[in-house]
Amino acid sequence: MSASRSLAAGLAGLPTAACRSMQSGRVPMKTVLVASTLAARPRFASAPRQAWSAAPARRSFTTTTPRRHGHIDPPKPGEELYVTFIEKDGEEHKFAVSAGDNLLDIAQANDLEMEGACGGSCACSTCHVIVVDEDKYDKMPEPEDDENDMLDLAFGLTETSRLGCQVKMTKELDGLVVKLPSMTRNMQASDFQ
Ligand code: FES
Repeated sequence: MSASRSLAAGLAGLPTAACRSMQSGRVPMKTVLVASTLAARPRFASAPRQAWSAAPARRSFTTTTPRRHGHIDPPKPGEELYVTFIEKDGEEHKFAVSAGDNLLDIAQANDLEMEGACGGSCACSTCHVIVVDEDKYDKMPEPEDDENDMLDLAFGLTETSRLGCQVKMTKELDGLVVKLPSMTRNMQASDFQ
């Protein structure tokens, strides 16, 4: 394409007023072409900025009900199971409880002296109980290794010792009697440093 044809094609795209000014010689051709190019540029700037300034999408936020130790629901009529705690001074307390309640929760719900320092996570021995009846002891599921490890640290360990937080009431354990030891020991890793 010759230079004169290129110029003609460029001028064809210019606004009429700009052509007239250029043809009259009042405005240099280069200035008119640059101004015309800038005017023809698409304006993208505002759209993305609006997108960034928009409020962030709302996120859903959920919570779970915290597990409270020492909280137990009363048993349904006809489904009561009985457990007796013997305190250090020999005083006995018999409670009607539901299947699935553990001995730590039952003791704490009834203000018995059972510390439960680790909150029932099998990491202390402050929920140590001594099962009085060997038959009942045999009906309990075997203690896991974690429980045995903690029981090894318990004060006054016996053949029928268990951790209260690990023993859940079942029909087979109805009538269970447990003694609270004369003292408990809270052995934690920090005790050995
Ligand atoms: S409360 Fe700590 S082991 Fe039972």
